[in-house]
Amino acid sequence: MNVHSQAAAAQSDDGIALGADLLHVDNISLSFGGVKAIQDVSFDIRKGEIRAIIGPNGAGKTSMLNVINGFYHPQEGIISFKGRERRRMRPYEAAAQGIARTFQNVALFTGMTTLENIMAGRSLKMHRNFFWQMLYRGPALNEEMEHRRVVEEIIDFLEIEAIRKTPVGQLPYGLQKRVELGRALAMEPTLLLLDEPMAGMNLEEKEDMSRYVLDVNSQLGTTIALIEHDMGVVMDLADRVMVLDYGKKIADGTPDEVQANQAVIDAYLGVPH
Ligand SMILES: Nc1ncnc2c1ncn2[C@@H]1O[C@H](COP(=O)(O)OP(=O)(O)OP(=O)(O)O)[C@@H](O)[C@H]1O
Ligand SMILES: [Mg+2]
Repeated sequence: MNVHSQAAAAQSDDGIALGADLLHVDNISLSFGGVKAIQDVSFDIRKGEIRAIIGPNGAGKTSMLNVINGFYHPQEGIISFKGRERRRMRPYEAAAQGIARTFQNVALFTGMTTLENIMAGRSLKMHRNFFWQMLYRGPALNEEMEHRRVVEEIIDFLEIEAIRKTPVGQLPYGLQKRVELGRALAMEPTLLLLDEPMAGMNLEEKEDMSRYVLDVNSQLGTTIALIEHDMGVVMDLADRVMVLDYGKKIADGTPDEVQANQAVIDAYLGVPH
């Protein structure tokens, strides 16, 4: 599938129109023992947008991504994805439904090459395709080749041809983050969750990553939820921003609205509340 047909598929694979709710989170609460990581938070992600989640350290941002991709199970609340209410769901099930993610700390197989890591992101699709092909078409001889073709397209898209055979552990941090993005893209997600994709990067690496995030959104048609501390990046990339503080939602709106919100300013200045 080329980049354009992939974008078309992303827009039609679930029957959700651009701009309509793709994910709905209602009154979610999550705690770990006495720690209330998320307290009664509701928000939505619209198909086709870049949705930022921001907030001070420990605000519950990563926990929220972990709830969305089925890694944590909230004690309270309801999640709907593609219009379907979701019961307890494991990460592989969320992945099969089209949710992929990258991690706050790079999570790659450091001894494996760029190509192998991105192929690994494809494994879920392989199993699913294998199953369907056995049922309807018999074993597909070309399956491996087809996966390789998609992976090569992603490598092309992210401009990492030069490092395709390099073990990931030998790459600078900024490139490792890009490979991790490639691994998530190999799942051809409807919703891509990025947990601080630019953390620890220098300015040039941040600019590169920003461009790839924008390209993924506009050229592949992928909806993106992004956690990011760099306010400049958030303001440049995000259509809408949700702000968490101590597990609670304190603001939600356009970047300009959120930036001017007094509760947000107080949270970032550490004003007690
Ligand atoms: N698995 C866990 N077990 C116990 N406590 C946890 C767990 N995961 C998160 N927490 C706690 O939940 C709260 C929110 O953590 P979370 O990692 O979601 O914050 P965050 O907004 O992503 O912060 P940061 O900006 O530092 O990454 C913190 O108090 C954290 O210690
Ligand atoms: Mg975090």
